[in-house]
Amino acid sequence: MSFTESADLRTSDTNRPVMNGVDALPPFPEGWYFVASRESILREKLIEKTWLGVEIVAWCDKVGSICVADAVCPHLGSHLGPAVGGQVCNGRLVCPLHGFEFDATGQCVATPNAPAPRAAKLKVYETREILGMIFAWFGSDGRPSQWDLPTEPTTSTEWSELRFHTLRFRGHPQETTENGVDFGHLAYVHGYDNVQPVGSVAIDGAYLKSCFDFKSVRRVAGLWDIESDISTVTHVYGLGYSLVEFHEKTIGMDARLWVFATPVDGELIEMTLVSQVREIRKPRRFISGLGFVPMKLRHRLMNLIILRNEKKFVLQDVVIWERKQYRPIPRLCRADGPIGKYRRYCRQFYPDLPRSLRPQ
Ligand code: FES
Ligand SMILES: [Fe+2]
Repeated sequence: MSFTESADLRTSDTNRPVMNGVDALPPFPEGWYFVASRESILREKLIEKTWLGVEIVAWCDKVGSICVADAVCPHLGSHLGPAVGGQVCNGRLVCPLHGFEFDATGQCVATPNAPAPRAAKLKVYETREILGMIFAWFGSDGRPSQWDLPTEPTTSTEWSELRFHTLRFRGHPQETTENGVDFGHLAYVHGYDNVQPVGSVAIDGAYLKSCFDFKSVRRVAGLWDIESDISTVTHVYGLGYSLVEFHEKTIGMDARLWVFATPVDGELIEMTLVSQVREIRKPRRFISGLGFVPMKLRHRLMNLIILRNEKKFVLQDVVIWERKQYRPIPRLCRADGPIGKYRRYCRQFYPDLPRSLRPQ
């Protein structure tokens, strides 16, 4: 993971569109949400961010355990983030106000002048790690995790390193994840040809799987007209985590695109795109220029191109998401994808709401 770009697409406060109003979705559905990559936590030593309406910090101790915790000191309430003066020393988070030290379980283990009070413990979040990407569980009313993220996908030297791009815009993770089953917009917004759903959407608890094929012709990097014949499988684990597996049939290229939608403050979401591509050993005619590129660079280059393309597609959606209003009773047509099925799947992520008030 060598590369992180980010872009803030917020409109300024004066022209930010008004929120949804009475039909608004509850802003923080339960689930696993992306926090940061291990690499960025190690690089920055201590990270602070607003995540699902709470101020959190994340750091790594000396044996590699990552802690994600509320950024509030249980002693007298100082913020623990680096902007206030919080720091990590010898793997412990040190509060800027009186120097209490916390280990990666959140327990206060030392203070400068007295034994550590046993009751001084940070509120910590359950975490999971997939290929160096760190997620934490956000439970309704703080309840523990109700389901799990998938096991790590197999990877090998054939797969490129992960490439990250982060966007921030006004939106909701249910609305953005709906894209994966909104087959109607794929041709209309993104210009995909011949979109063909494969089988029906499968749901198993918090897991949803959706498959479709499509064709596209597009100019890549201003150089190659790529005719693609692509199969996709989308794996959704709650509203914060989606993995789209692409298989390009004519050149035998496999790529993965993760899409993490993480609510920030009830209005903005942070969307992190992560891509990875498998080496193409024998590129065919239309990308023959790649044949001269050393193998190692080749899949890095393809990964860069794929992430650029995906970023372009997501930006086509962002323009719409930013001004979109949630319609609890959408007036669907026959050509729409399984929007209704998806919406029923989503209800489980709002366990606090009485059944009658859960999103339709
Ligand atoms: S407020 Fe954190 S050590 Fe006192
Ligand atoms: Fe889209």
